[in-house]
Amino acid sequence: MLRGLTNGNQQPAITVNHLTMAYGSFVLMRDLNFMINHGDIFIIMGGSGSGKSTLLRNLIGLNEPAGGEIFYGDQNFTKAGLAKRQEVLTRVGVCFRVARSGAR
Ligand SMILES: Nc1ncnc2c1ncn2[C@@H]1O[C@H](COP(=O)(O)OP(=O)(O)OP(=O)(O)O)[C@@H](O)[C@H]1O
Ligand SMILES: [Mg+2]
Repeated sequence: MLRGLTNGNQQPAITVNHLTMAYGSFVLMRDLNFMINHGDIFIIMGGSGSGKSTLLRNLIGLNEPAGGEIFYGDQNFTKAGLAKRQEVLTRVGVCFRVARSGAR
C-alpha cells in the first residue's frame, strides 16, 4: 500500500472492523480488518475467486456483511439506511477502480 501524503492526523476515510463476508452458509472471509486513509492508494489483490469483488460489493452496500462493520469517517455505513448510505458515498466521493491483469 502506498501511503498518501495528505492523511496527517485525519480520521481514516474507510475503516473495516471484523468484516465477515458470506454467501449463505459459504463463509468467504472472516474477521477482516483494515483502514484506508485519505490519499492512500489501496490495492486489493488475490487470485480468481478469492473475494475481491465481494469485498467491493460489501464496501458500497451491494452485499450485506455477515458480520463486522464498515465506517466512512465516523459514519457507520453498515448500520445506515439506504438514503444515508447514498449520502455517505456521494459525500466521500468514493471511487473504486478495477484493474485487471491477464487476458480476461
Ligand atoms: N452470488 C454469489 N453466490 C454464491 N457464491 C458467490 C457469489 N458471488 C461470488 N461467489 C463466490 O464467492 C467467491 C469469491 O468471488 P468473487 O467474485 O468475490 O471473487 P474475485 O476475487 O472477484 O474473483 P475474480 O478475480 O474472478 O473476479 C467465489 O468462490 C465465488 O464463486
Ligand atoms: Mg471479481
